[in-house]
Amino acid sequence: MDKLVIRGGRQLSGSINASGSKNSSLPIIAATLLAGKGSFTLHNIPDLRDITTFTQLLNHLGSETTFSDNTLIVSSRNVQSLQAPYELVKKMRASIYVLGPLLARFGHARVSLPGGCAFGPRPIDLHLMAMEKLGATITIETGFIDASIKGGKLQGAHIDFPVSSVGATGNALMAAVLAEGKTTISNAAAEPEIETLCRFLTAMGATIRGTGTTELEIDGKESLNAIEFQNVFDRIEAGTLLAAAAITGGEITINGVEPEQMKAVLKKFIHAGCTVTTTSNSITLKSPDKLLPTDVTAKPYPSFPTDMQAQWIALMTQAEGTSHIIDKVYHERFNHIPELNRLGAHIEIRKNQAIVHGPQHLSGTKVMSTDLRASASLVLAGLVAQGTTEVLRVYHLDRGYEKIEMKLKSLGADIRREKYNEF
Ligand code: EPZ
Repeated sequence: MDKLVIRGGRQLSGSINASGSKNSSLPIIAATLLAGKGSFTLHNIPDLRDITTFTQLLNHLGSETTFSDNTLIVSSRNVQSLQAPYELVKKMRASIYVLGPLLARFGHARVSLPGGCAFGPRPIDLHLMAMEKLGATITIETGFIDASIKGGKLQGAHIDFPVSSVGATGNALMAAVLAEGKTTISNAAAEPEIETLCRFLTAMGATIRGTGTTELEIDGKESLNAIEFQNVFDRIEAGTLLAAAAITGGEITINGVEPEQMKAVLKKFIHAGCTVTTTSNSITLKSPDKLLPTDVTAKPYPSFPTDMQAQWIALMTQAEGTSHIIDKVYHERFNHIPELNRLGAHIEIRKNQAIVHGPQHLSGTKVMSTDLRASASLVLAGLVAQGTTEVLRVYHLDRGYEKIEMKLKSLGADIRREKYNEF
C-alpha cells in the first residue's frame, strides 16, 4: 500500500497544467456504449484508478480500449455482455453509468447495486425512476438491478428530478438519446460535467436543447456515431491545487482551465483574502499574509461544489477566525474532520455544519484517508503542518488525482510516495 510523506512549511510557487476531468470522463466513456460501429478517440482523459476501473468494466462488457498518454481509444461495436458485475461495481459507484446506454442500445441491462460509500448513503432511486419513466421494467434481485424493455425501444417521456443529481441526469441523457420520440428533463444537473456530456452526445449526432441548463430536451435518434473528442479540465483538481497555494502562503498559476466554471470557488478564495487573476485559460492565485474566515455552503452547480468542501475546511483551519461550512449535498461528508483534528485543528460538527476555529497550529503525524476528497484535505493540512505528516491509504487519492505528489513537488512541496504495510 502507498502513503504520502509530507514535510510541511514550504510555500508553493510556480505554474502547473490541470488534468482532464474525472467526473466528465466517466459518463463520456459510458456513452461510447451507444455507438454500434466505429471507434472513439477521447483526449485529455486523466490517468486515474477510476478510469482504469471503468475501462475494465467496458472490457468486461466486450468493448475494446487502449489508453496511452491521456488518450483513450474505445470501440463498443462488439459488446456482448450486458452485465456489470459486483466485483467491478463495488470499486466505483459511477459504474451505474452503464445502465442507461446498455438499456438504450440493447433493451436490457443487469448492473450490480453499488456498495456503500464512506460519506453516507448514496441512493440510485433517481436513476431507476428515470429508466422507468422511459419505459423500462426494473426488478432488483440478488443484489442486481435488472432493467429491460418490452417491445425493445425506450419511449421518450418527461422526467422531473425532485433532487438535482449528476449521475441520474447523465443516465437519463444517455438513455433518452436513443429513445423513440422526445424526452424532457426538468431539474437536470447543470454541472460542467453534464454540459460536457451533452456536447459529447451532440457531437455523436444526438439532438439536445438546453445544454448547460437545468431544463433539457432530447429528440431520440435511431443510432449515433463514434467521434473524436477533447475532454474538459478537472475543476476539482484545479480548486484543490489553488487551496494548496492558499494554505502554504504561496502563489501559483494553473493553465488549461476555464475560470468561468470555477466562479463560486474563486469568489470564496477572494473572500478569504487571496488575490485571484484569470485569463481565458488560466488562474493565478496569491495567498494573503493572513487568511480570512469564510463561510461556505456546498450546493449543486453553480454554487460551491461539495467536492471542494473537505479542502475548504482544511484551508479554514489557518484562517484568522471561525468559519462555518455546510454541505447541502452530502450532509455527513465530514470523515476528514477527526483526522484534521488529530493534526491539531479545532473543528466541531453540529448536524450538517462544520465549525472551524482558526488559526490553528498543525503538527504532523500519521493520518488515515477515508475517501477521495477527505484524503485531499489531509494532504493540504500536511503541507502546512509542522514536521512530517504521513497520509495513509492514498489509493483513495489516486482515484481522482493524477500524479498529485509530482504536481505538488514541482510547485516546491516536500512530498514523496512510499510503500508501507498495514499490520
Ligand atoms: C457525482 O456523484 C460526482 N461523482 C461526485 O463526485 C459529486 O460529489 C456528486 O456528483 C455531487 O456533485 C461523479 O461524477 C463520478 P449526485 P453522483 O447523484 O452522481 C442524491 C468525487 O469526489 N441522490 O449528484 O453520485 C444523493 O444522495 C465524487 O469526485 C438521490 O437521492 O451524485 C446526493 O444527496 C464524490 N438519489 C444528491 O442526490 C439518486 O438516485 C447528489 O448526488 C441519486 C442521487
